[in-house]
Amino acid sequence: MVVFMHMEAPMKIRKVIFPVGGLGTRFYPITKVIPKEMLGILDKPLIQYAFEEALGAGIKQFIFVTRHGKTSIEDYCDHVLTHMERFDSSKCSFCYVRQGEPRGLGHAVLCARHLVDNEPFAVISADDYISHSSSCIGEMIKHYHGSNMAAIMNVPKKDVSKYGIMDVEKENDKTIIARSVDEKPSVEKAKSTHAIVGRYILTHEIFDVLKNLKPGVKNEIQLTDALLQMIPTHGLVGFKFEGKRFDCGSQEGLLEAILHVSSNDKKLAGVIKKFYENIPP
Ligand code: UTP
Repeated sequence: MVVFMHMEAPMKIRKVIFPVGGLGTRFYPITKVIPKEMLGILDKPLIQYAFEEALGAGIKQFIFVTRHGKTSIEDYCDHVLTHMERFDSSKCSFCYVRQGEPRGLGHAVLCARHLVDNEPFAVISADDYISHSSSCIGEMIKHYHGSNMAAIMNVPKKDVSKYGIMDVEKENDKTIIARSVDEKPSVEKAKSTHAIVGRYILTHEIFDVLKNLKPGVKNEIQLTDALLQMIPTHGLVGFKFEGKRFDCGSQEGLLEAILHVSSNDKKLAGVIKKFYENIPP
C-alpha cells in the first residue's frame, strides 16, 4: 500500500546535491582530464546551468559529490559561481565531498549523507540540461508534498533501456503515482515510456536504504533501486516538468543543447542559418 504524507503547503528545500563523480566515458578522451560537467553550452559549463536552476529555486546550500580529477569544478565555484549576482555569501554555502570511486548515482548521493541531516533535499544531474522558463527543480519544489519525487518525460519506446522507467498506478495532469520503477529495462519488459531524468526531491530516509542496497544494473548502486524499495512506505511521484531536456552526457544531446541555446540568440541563430545554407545538399 502506498502511504503519502499530507502537507498543507509546499515544503522548503534548502539543499541540493550535485553528483559530479561519474567517469563520463561517453565523452572519452576529453573527460579523461576535463570533468563532463565542465563541458560548455557556449560560454557556460553544464554545472553553471544546474547551479543557476537551483539558485533560482531558492536553494541555499550546494553540495558537490566530486572525485579525483574534478577540481576544476571547485575552482569554477570560487571564481565564477560565488560571484554571481543572486549568490549571497552570508546565506549560501558550498560543500564538497569526495566519492572515492564511481560506484553509481545512488552511491554518490549516499556520500553526502552527513551534510543533509533529517530533511528532504534536491538532486540535480548537471549533464541533464533542462531549458525551462524559470527553474525545473523550482517547479518540482512547488508541487512537493513529502514523497520521493523524480522528474519524468516520455521517451520513444526504443530508448527505454537508457532510463529508469515508472509503472503507472495513477496519472494526473502534472504527476504520476508510480506502482514500481525499473532501471534500464529492455523494450519488452518496460511497463511504460515514462522515463526518469536527472532531477529528484528525496526524503532523508533514502540514505538508510542506499546504505544497505546491493549493486544493481552495471554493478552500480542505483538510486532507482532505492526509490523502488521505498514505494510502500514513502511513495514515488513522477513529475511532468515544463521545458525541454537535453542529455548532455551524450554527444548528440550536447550538440542539440548548443544548437537550442544558440538558436535563441539573434547573432548566433544567424550563424547557424548561414552554416546550413552553405552545406551542399
Ligand atoms: P551517468 O549515468 O551519466 O554516468 O551519471 P557517467 O559516468 O557520468 O557517464 P558515462 O555513462 O560513463 O558516459 C549520471 C550522473 O551521476 C553522476 C554523474 O557525474 C552524472 O552527473 N555520477 C554517476 C556520480 O556522481 N557518481 C557515479 O559513480 C556515477
